[in-house]
Amino acid sequence: MLCEKYAPYTLNGIAGNREAVQKLEQFAIDCQQGKPVKPIMIYGPPGTGKTTAAHALAYSNGFELIELNASDYRDKEKLEKILLPASTSMGIFKTKLLILLDEIDELSSKFDAGAESAITELIRISKHPIIFIANDYWSRKIAFLRGKVEPIQFKRLSPSEVLNVLKNIVEKEKKKISEELLAEIANRSNGDLRGAINDLEFAMAGESITLESLGTRDRQMEIFAVLDKIFVSRSLDQARKAINSSDTEIDMLINWVDENVPNRYKSKESVNKAYYYVSRASFFEEKAGRTSYYGYLKYSKDLLAGVSIANDGNLSLIKSYTFPVKIKFMSTTKKEREYKGAIAQKLIYILHTHKRYVISEYFPMLKAMIEKGEKLYGEEKVLDFFESEYRLGKEEIKIIKDSKL
Ligand SMILES: Nc1ncnc2c1ncn2[C@@H]1O[C@H](COP(=O)(O)OP(=O)(O)OP(=O)(O)O)[C@@H](O)[C@H]1O
Ligand SMILES: [Mg+2]
Repeated sequence: MLCEKYAPYTLNGIAGNREAVQKLEQFAIDCQQGKPVKPIMIYGPPGTGKTTAAHALAYSNGFELIELNASDYRDKEKLEKILLPASTSMGIFKTKLLILLDEIDELSSKFDAGAESAITELIRISKHPIIFIANDYWSRKIAFLRGKVEPIQFKRLSPSEVLNVLKNIVEKEKKKISEELLAEIANRSNGDLRGAINDLEFAMAGESITLESLGTRDRQMEIFAVLDKIFVSRSLDQARKAINSSDTEIDMLINWVDENVPNRYKSKESVNKAYYYVSRASFFEEKAGRTSYYGYLKYSKDLLAGVSIANDGNLSLIKSYTFPVKIKFMSTTKKEREYKGAIAQKLIYILHTHKRYVISEYFPMLKAMIEKGEKLYGEEKVLDFFESEYRLGKEEIKIIKDSKL
């Protein structure tokens, strides 16, 4: 991905946001000199370089990073296990440590009590500098941090700042892209540089991107509506928005798209191209899991949106999208046991019993609760309840519900 290839390694390389970058430099100097520093909170819109800046700061000042992000905040035990010892001990090679809590406004609202106290304690006892990152500084979920952190704002990049970065990349890649298209990508980026670079990547791959298909980037649907946007809209913008606003997790979306490409696209070329993007999306989705760097999920989503421009206008009419065989298969084979095992593993901490007991005794009960709950209160309430009480997501609930006990 171009985004990875051209991510700067130093604060100097961060485009735009000079004031914020200067504050970060001062923070780094204070840390280097061993001054006691207040934790900082970098906040601002997506794709403006917050995570990149924090990494660059650590990298260029020789800090060893201890990094957590959204996916880690659901587990108070994990938080405590990682953070509290880390906040007092030295790095493996006696290097200096820097504690980075990225996407802190994703702290699960349902479990914030536990996580809040762990994080407050971390701030109190840490001997190492701490950086928080959030999109929304005013989010209720992180109100407890106000006053305890020094806010540093990242703003949307201006179109000319975005354009400069894009031009630079085009030059280094030795590609020819029209000035007009570049300017248009920059103008419509809404200051989201990651988005702009990803759009450029589509353009450089020779996709016939029209100005309409770019749309504008801003963030914030049921599965079939999302699939329609992906397959029918011929608009990267609409596909992207649908994917970003969907409740369905990206790995499931990939399965759905994967299954339905040949149902919808008629020409060999479209199918071919669509699968190219599905496979790239899937690659980054898996990479996110493997490396625990969830930033890759954002690449994965942008790549999946690429399926929309594989549409050459030659569509099959279908009654309904087919349910992914992969998910069906999973719930009827050996995979089912694996999947159930993984769910049970999560539940042992909450139910305080062993895995086999969870499967034999609790699963039937949970299944009955889900079925009855859905009848009485509706699916959404049930999802909410299981998310807050058992930390189970939609797909996991489905697996319990569909399992033959
Ligand atoms: N200001 C910037 N200067 C240089 N590159 C940038 C900048 N902002 C974003 N990028 C590019 O976009 C990619 C994504 O940026 P990054 O992950 O830092 O965004 P972010 O602000 O953390 O977004 P989010 O809020 O969605 O996590 C980087 O890998 C880099 O290639
Ligand atoms: Mg980030």
